[in-house]
Amino acid sequence: MSILPILIHPDPRLKKRCAPVENISSEIGQLAENMLETMYDAPGVGLAAPQVGILKRLFVMDCVKEDDADPRPIVLINPEIVSTSAEMSTYEEGCLSIPEHYGEVTRPARVVMRWTGLDGKPQEEEFDGLWATCAQHELDHLDGKLFIDHLGAIKRSMITRKMVKLKRERARG
Ligand code: NI
Repeated sequence: MSILPILIHPDPRLKKRCAPVENISSEIGQLAENMLETMYDAPGVGLAAPQVGILKRLFVMDCVKEDDADPRPIVLINPEIVSTSAEMSTYEEGCLSIPEHYGEVTRPARVVMRWTGLDGKPQEEEFDGLWATCAQHELDHLDGKLFIDHLGAIKRSMITRKMVKLKRERARG
């Protein structure tokens, strides 16, 4: 396993609609393992393939927050939303591609998602709480959408300007 570099916004690869995973090869399995390791290392609760420069429809997540609870890593391949609750919830979101910036995003409080597991079998589950927020945030990534796209234009451009500056500083070393 290895830790992958995470792309920082703005990057054209974070704005692309990703292609479906056609077959679950050993490369996809390896990618998913590396993405999980990268996510736990960051640390974060979710990571989508485009964030590591792979424009395919998969993401990983683990929203277990309690330190004493067992981790619950999930790999979602070709995920789609089956249904969403009418009830909404607002959560202060962050993103590993937009470090140190947060913004309140309102999304359905519960979401039923369907995806293919690493074993090739179809899975379906209803997520709520942080799991629902995270699943929708990660699915957005697969359609080239970031949480700042849910914010107002002024806040979005302010964050983007700060990210451009951060990338410039990092490039300088
Ligand atoms: Ni994100």
